[in-house]
Amino acid sequence: MRKIIIAIDGYSSTGKSTVAKKLANALGYVYVDTGAMYRAVTLFALEKGFVSDSLDAKSLIEALPNVELKFRPNKKLGKSEMFLNGKNVEKEIRTMRVSEQVSQVSAVKEVREKLVELQQAMGLDKGIVMDGRDIGTVVFPEAELKIFMTASARTRAHRRYKELLERGDEVSFEQVLKNVEGRDFIDSTRTVSPLKPAKDAITFDNSDMGVEEQFERIHSYAQRVI
Ligand code: C5P
Repeated sequence: MRKIIIAIDGYSSTGKSTVAKKLANALGYVYVDTGAMYRAVTLFALEKGFVSDSLDAKSLIEALPNVELKFRPNKKLGKSEMFLNGKNVEKEIRTMRVSEQVSQVSAVKEVREKLVELQQAMGLDKGIVMDGRDIGTVVFPEAELKIFMTASARTRAHRRYKELLERGDEVSFEQVLKNVEGRDFIDSTRTVSPLKPAKDAITFDNSDMGVEEQFERIHSYAQRVI
């Protein structure tokens, strides 16, 4: 069976990662969550004091060579976790503090260049499911299968709100909805690699679809290509 690259892009909290992980497991592929990489750079910028009211992009760009990102497998949990300069930051990068700043950090050209290069290196041997915003358009424009997921902003905010509450974060639904809509806006209107479906992507709205149904659909598309 030949190995392919599967690109899963879409709006925030469309459940891309859940389906992408399941798909990677079923195919014996590597799963890469590129959002985690942008989140880790954002955490770095916050820790260094480059983000307050606005982003000090110049200082962040200068410090970028000091950012080392690694995914390391956590065998117990059966998933990979993000390490920033040797420290496990998997929990911290999912907080609202990071979510509120990540889109402006992700709009910086030099940040994207660094991360796209790392992502392309991870896909050299194919056999990879990567999720993000620009995987089918910029990172792997030649990916054999491209999926673009959408859902209504309220549905996505509800999913995210539930996740954050389960994790013990104190947030309001309105705060989460505002963040989801704000990130959609910045992500899709930025000059560098804006969020949009690739011309050859299969787009679907999963507002009324469960994980299993989404998985079955994408899995059957993948079987056709493999
Ligand atoms: O996927 P997740 O919601 O964790 O991504 C967080 C943010 O990272 C997005 O809102 C977007 O600003 C940025 N991102 C990006 N390009 C990617 C993945 C994520 O710009 N490939």
